[in-house]
Amino acid sequence: MKQLDDLVESASKQFEDAIHQVDHQVLEETRIEYLGAKSGKLKEAQKGLGKVAKEDKPVAGKRFNEVKTRLEELFQSAADTITGGGKKGKAETLDVTLPGVRPRLGHIHPITQTIDELKDIMGRLGFSAVEGPEIEDDWHNFEALNIPLEHPARDPLDNFYLNIAASSHGGGNQLLRSQTSTVQIRVMENKQPPIRIVSLGRVYRPDEIDATHYAMFHQIEGLLVDTNVTMADLKYVLRLFASSYLGEDVEIRFRPSFFPFTEPSVEVDMRWQDTWLEFGGAGMVDPNVLKAVGYDPEEVTGFAFGLGVERLCMRRHGINDIRYLYDSNTKFLAQF
Ligand code: PHE
Repeated sequence: MKQLDDLVESASKQFEDAIHQVDHQVLEETRIEYLGAKSGKLKEAQKGLGKVAKEDKPVAGKRFNEVKTRLEELFQSAADTITGGGKKGKAETLDVTLPGVRPRLGHIHPITQTIDELKDIMGRLGFSAVEGPEIEDDWHNFEALNIPLEHPARDPLDNFYLNIAASSHGGGNQLLRSQTSTVQIRVMENKQPPIRIVSLGRVYRPDEIDATHYAMFHQIEGLLVDTNVTMADLKYVLRLFASSYLGEDVEIRFRPSFFPFTEPSVEVDMRWQDTWLEFGGAGMVDPNVLKAVGYDPEEVTGFAFGLGVERLCMRRHGINDIRYLYDSNTKFLAQF
């Protein structure tokens, strides 16, 4: 029994040494010395069991098995510690010669990059950036924008109306805003002219999804209200804006159009690298809108525009499918 106890004591010292030296060789030698199948110390002790008196055999056998398990444990834990891995929870050793684990760095999404850049450009032209809520009431999304109840743009099938009770203020239905023109109203309700703002953010429409349409996208809205504002100012600002973003001289073309909240209204095309591209709508703020927010249309005039942020970003980077932007595929996104 004494011999067995000594075995555990000396083995644990030697395995401990192997750990301190972080030495596989020492570990292996210690293993052979104690657990070696042919002439290990445990094997010897087993042979000694044969000489134990018959009546002492059960106790001695039991003790032998305990010692054997203990030695195997000592070896295993020393091995795990030295190889620095193995089972979880064991102490790890640091090998400073191994290459480090590089942290994966993310970066700003291309749409957010575009938004930041567009804000910057408009900031230099004197437009300050403001934000509006994505959940709107129909006063801000339609009514104040001169879009009456019977207008097809208010069709439930063309909007994401929310299934919640009407709010106490603004009245009526709540919906995910279908355009950032809502922010024009929110700004004018709270401030007197002169006004010079841009608002960039998400809008939602239940469109069929394809290469150029998504149920959620971003718009940049611009609004300028002052005395003697004309369409020439609008065209000039849009041309400066387009040239700054696309990086060359960009031509602007207005095509007659209709929006309930501008009069006259135009579609805005930009000619870049020999192609005409449609980027959104614009026009002179409709007198009815100015009245709805308490301005006097005889005193002030203004222009407004709304352009697609994805379109600008896709054109600039040569991206041909809007869905790539929202797939969360880091291989794609890492390119920008
Ligand atoms: N809100 C319009 C749209 O989403 C764009 C627009 C904005 C047109 C401002 C005129 C003035 O289609």
